[in-house]
Amino acid sequence: MTRLLARLGHILGAAVFLFTLVAVSPGWAQQPSKDNPNASAVQEQQLLRELNRVQGLVSIPDTKEGTLIQPQGREWRHFHEVTLRWIGAIALIGMVVLLAVFYLVRGSIKLASGRAGRTILRFDTLERTVHWMTAVSFIILGISGLNITFGKPLLLPLMDPQTFTNISEALKYAHNYLSFPFTIGILFMLVMWLKDNIPDSTDVEWLKEGGGIVGHAHPPARRFNAGQKGIFWIVVLGGAAMAITGYVLMFPFYAGLNIANMQAAQIVHGVVGVLFIAVILAHIYIGTLGMEGAFEAMGSGEVDLNWAKEHHSLWVKEEMGKTGSSAHTRMTPAE
Ligand code: HEM
Repeated sequence: MTRLLARLGHILGAAVFLFTLVAVSPGWAQQPSKDNPNASAVQEQQLLRELNRVQGLVSIPDTKEGTLIQPQGREWRHFHEVTLRWIGAIALIGMVVLLAVFYLVRGSIKLASGRAGRTILRFDTLERTVHWMTAVSFIILGISGLNITFGKPLLLPLMDPQTFTNISEALKYAHNYLSFPFTIGILFMLVMWLKDNIPDSTDVEWLKEGGGIVGHAHPPARRFNAGQKGIFWIVVLGGAAMAITGYVLMFPFYAGLNIANMQAAQIVHGVVGVLFIAVILAHIYIGTLGMEGAFEAMGSGEVDLNWAKEHHSLWVKEEMGKTGSSAHTRMTPAE
């Protein structure tokens, strides 16, 4: 009997020891005991399949921080890393190829009647300052923006990660700060040039005759022809879209905006941005390589009188009529 009691005591002691061992082991602490950390109920993929998102509760006031993964986030990432790159590549490479082919076929549009040796003021100092302030800002905004879209696949493989980080950081600062002169420039352009960019019947005629760009005609035009009016409206409306969506991205989640609004702003900013750059490539082409005498308008501000008569005949008449004399024109030394 004593031996039996002693054996029972040993068994009880062993049971207590075993129970204590199991109770303090980490596996026991995870409730309930049959939970397997790899079980489907606790897998992210399972949660995503069932709830379409991975989210929980947070004690900080910013409740959106509770969402860790949501389907739109992955759609957005696909847009940013795949779709936008395709749109950008097609728009930019397509435009460069188009301009190259156009240049090879049409060449530079020459001054048919040669130079008059007399110039007329086309853009005053304020207009040229605003143009170049906006243009320089735009070019740097474009390059720094393209680095966000294409830097990782195109630049990063060419350099060490730290150099890429430094370049991207500098470009990001440039993108943020140059947004201000760009926006101011767009507002000035709207005020300065709106009255000369209202579409009218001369634009229809100009377009019917191919604007002198497709054919060799010189259809009459006022201060700005239909093509230039198109560029003006693209710049003003595109610039407004870029500024609004850009500031939404720069100051995220203000005015009650949610993650879906932020993603929409980024999609509009990215798509309009790459299309905008493609259009401005065409604008730069026609203002430099594409047309003899055009650059002077934004360079010195004065264009040759024959150039003005060929491309903006109605404007020249208006200007001459306004002054009744040649107050806005002057002789330049013969070349
Ligand atoms: C007021 C003017 C602008 C503001 C406030 C602005 C602001 C921004 C911001 C905050 C971003 C996001 C940067 C990031 O993800 O860290 C961005 C991206 C970008 N911006 Fe701008 N931006 C402006 C104008 C422009 C212009 C004029 C262009 C084109 C010439 C441009 C092209 C781009 C591009 C391509 C991206 C990258 C889009 C992407 O890959 O997600 N931006 N911009």
